[in-house]
Amino acid sequence: MERIPAYEGKCIGYTHLGVGIFLSPSFEGRILVSGMVPGDEGFVEISYKRAGNCFGKIKKLTALSKDRIVPACPVHTSCGGCLFQNVSYERQLGFKKELVESQLKRVDGLSFSLEDTVPSIPNTGIRNKVQVPFGRDRKGRLVYGFYKELSHEIVPYPDCVNADPRANAILSKVHDAAMRTGLAPYDERNESGELRHAIVRTSRFYDEKMLTIVTKDRDFPEKEEFFDLIAASLGKADHLIHNINGKSTNVILGSEEEVIYGTPYLRDRLLGKEFLISSRSFYQTNPYIAEKVYETVREELELSGEETVLDAYGGIGTIGIVLSDKAKEVISVENVCQATLDARKNAELNGVRNFEAVCLDVGEALEKMAKDGKKIDVAVLDPARRGCGRFACEKILELAPAKIAYVSCSPMSLAKDLDVLKDNYFIRLVKPFDMFPFTPHVETVVILSRK
Ligand SMILES: C[S@@+](CC[C@H](N)C(=O)[O-])C[C@H]1O[C@@H](n2cnc3c(N)ncnc32)[C@H](O)[C@@H]1O
Repeated sequence: MERIPAYEGKCIGYTHLGVGIFLSPSFEGRILVSGMVPGDEGFVEISYKRAGNCFGKIKKLTALSKDRIVPACPVHTSCGGCLFQNVSYERQLGFKKELVESQLKRVDGLSFSLEDTVPSIPNTGIRNKVQVPFGRDRKGRLVYGFYKELSHEIVPYPDCVNADPRANAILSKVHDAAMRTGLAPYDERNESGELRHAIVRTSRFYDEKMLTIVTKDRDFPEKEEFFDLIAASLGKADHLIHNINGKSTNVILGSEEEVIYGTPYLRDRLLGKEFLISSRSFYQTNPYIAEKVYETVREELELSGEETVLDAYGGIGTIGIVLSDKAKEVISVENVCQATLDARKNAELNGVRNFEAVCLDVGEALEKMAKDGKKIDVAVLDPARRGCGRFACEKILELAPAKIAYVSCSPMSLAKDLDVLKDNYFIRLVKPFDMFPFTPHVETVVILSRK
């Protein structure tokens, strides 16, 4: 067998995705090594080349980075979920600040000063949503876990250290129920089997959990016994939803749902406001940091009570409802209609009367507002990872709110959007938050004022 050469060298930094950059005097160019910590020295083997990059894996470490720690999770290198399990928390926070800085510095003429990353306290056992696929391992045993990086092979995990422990306990009950009833996992290769995914959401404030089970069909022979077993292990305030997804797709949830136990809503409380969350609506996954992000937006916008506030990408209305006490009116725009219905319910639940939620694409809604001459004093933009995009940013320029709070989960798309907004707005604040501990992802709040 041909021997794979190993190169000796040092990890000198991270890519923007948190992958170690390894340099060796005997290799031209860089080798990207997942799980290598800047400062590590040793031998690396090349695994594959893709899109002009060389990817490698650690063969042997000869000197350890001072930032390296013992990972709490045994499968962190294979499951691809928490790349930073082996990095000190301080270094993780530093990486996130540097990432935001490096991305924003790529924008010509953007002037800003950057605060330190706000840590998540606590930073383990906090993730309020866990979704896992079910499948079989090489020995044919029923397993659940996370997909291995770039594959559909499931890395089984018994207890995710980042997840709320109540979610881990529920997933193990789902596994038991499937084993006892002989419910087969879905196999995408031949579209056989039933059980596709289990998703657990937990409330931080209440002792409530919501379990969504995704199967291929609405009815299957094991259904009644399987759901009875699971329901028997849930608490009084919990919820069990059956989602049906018969499509051959990577999209997890199907469009059809039935409530098996409890109600269609999980309840939680943030900053003293009550929220109902249905299974298909977005909800921030780290409630500790979500509160800090919302608080920062509220404080930095310094609303007087006279403003019309646009809450774009509003989800279930969280930010808009938190701001509603200090605004004349709030208009929330969201394109998942179930989330819009949740937002309306949430406004009612909190006795908020100056809040309107519309189900529309943000670009379309902004275009209509600009055409109608609607006056927006303050805009909150909290888009998904791909950002707002040029069209929506140009419509914001037309509407010209005096202040903008941009809440971003991707410094890359944030930089692109700020490039469009920069001629008309000053940046008053850039503050990274550790919404996703032990991963390379970062949430950033940027406050802008019209020039
Ligand atoms: C990052 S979440 C923020 C939700 C909410 N602000 C919060 O803090 O919970 C982004 C939201 O934007 C919605 N969304 C994504 N693209 C959209 C678009 N083009 N128009 C309207 N809403 C969109 C998603 O469904 C999701 O609810």
